Amino acid sequence: MNENGDVKMKRDFIDTNSYTKKEIQYLINLGLQIKRDIKNGNYPQLLQHRTLGMIFEESSTRTRVSFETAMTQLGGHAQYLAPGQIHLGSSESESLSDTAIVLSRLVDILMARVAKHSTVEKLAETATVPVLNGMSDYNHPTQEMGDIITMAEHLPSGKRLSDCKVVFVGDATQVCVSLMFIATKMGMNFVQFGPKSHQIKPNTLEIGKRNAELSGGSVEITEDPDLAMKDADFVYTDVWYGLYESPLSYDERMAIFYPKYQVNDALMSKATSHTMFMHCLPANRGEEVTDSVIDSPHSIAWDEAENRLTAMRALLVYLMIPTMNYTKEQLDGLNDPKLKDMILKMVDDATN
Ligand code: CP
Repeated sequence: MNENGDVKMKRDFIDTNSYTKKEIQYLINLGLQIKRDIKNGNYPQLLQHRTLGMIFEESSTRTRVSFETAMTQLGGHAQYLAPGQIHLGSSESESLSDTAIVLSRLVDILMARVAKHSTVEKLAETATVPVLNGMSDYNHPTQEMGDIITMAEHLPSGKRLSDCKVVFVGDATQVCVSLMFIATKMGMNFVQFGPKSHQIKPNTLEIGKRNAELSGGSVEITEDPDLAMKDADFVYTDVWYGLYESPLSYDERMAIFYPKYQVNDALMSKATSHTMFMHCLPANRGEEVTDSVIDSPHSIAWDEAENRLTAMRALLVYLMIPTMNYTKEQLDGLNDPKLKDMILKMVDDATN
C-alpha cells in the first residue's frame, strides 16, 4: 500500500503482451546482471524464505529444473506439485479456484504448466499471489524470455535486437507464436516459414502485427524457403507434434513437413555465414532438425536452455519485489553495485 492508501495490484506473467517493451528490456538486463553475479560466485539472496509452488499438468525438464534452481540460488525454495500429488485434476478433484485460494495462503508465488490456457488464466484470476505461465496450449512466455535473452547475448556484430531477423521454421506451435510475440514486441523482423495448414492463425497474427506497428518490427508468413532464409540472423524450430487439440502421428507429420521444413545444412546454406540456430528443446533429431545443425558451432540451443534459468531468476525477482519487504541486510548484501541500483529502483517503483 502506498501513502495514498492505494493497494498495488499483484502482477502475473501469463502473456508478454501484457508487458511493455521497456519492461521486457528491463527483465533482459536484470537477468543478465544476476547471471554475471552468479558466474562470479555471488548469489544474491533476494528471495530468502520465499516459496514457489510449481503445478505441472504436463511433463517438463527445462521449465521445472530452471524454476527450482532459480529459487534455490536466490535463497528460496520450490515445491513440485505434480498431477496425482495434489487434489487438482484428480478424479474427485478440488476446484481450481479453491486450489488457488489455498495455495495463495501457503506459498509466495505460483507457476503452472497447463494443458489449456484458460486454466492458468483462471488460476491467476483467483490466486492472490503472482502466477507465472509455465506453458499452455496458447503460449510459452518464460521460453520467450529465455529466447530473447539468448538472442541479446548472441547479436551479430554491430547489430541491435531491432536490426535482426528471426525465422521460425515449421509448425505454428505455442513456441512459434511466442517467438512472434517477443520478437515483434522488441522491434525485430519475424518470419514463419511453414505450410499453409500449420501457419499462425489470423487472430494471433494480428497481435504480432500490432506489436510490430508499435515497435517498428515486421511479421511475415511464407512457404518460400529462399525468401524466409534470406539475411536471417536467427533460425528457430520446434517439434512437429501438432497442437494439443490435434496431435500428429509420425507418418502424418513427416508427410506435412518433411523434407521441406527440416532445418538441415541445405536450408541453413540459404541464410548467411553468421546465422545462428535455436531450438526450445526437446528436439526430435532427424525430424525438424538434423544432428549436423543442432550440433554445429552455429547452434546456440544449449545457451538457450541455460537462459531459461537466467529468465526465471529475473522474473521471480521482478514479480516478488512488490509483495515482499527487503531487509536492509539483504540489500546491503548485494555485492554488485549495478544489481543493487536495479533492485533499489524496483523497490522504489513498487512502493510509490
Ligand atoms: N522448452 C521447454 O519448455 O522444455 P521443457 O518441456 O523440458 O520444460
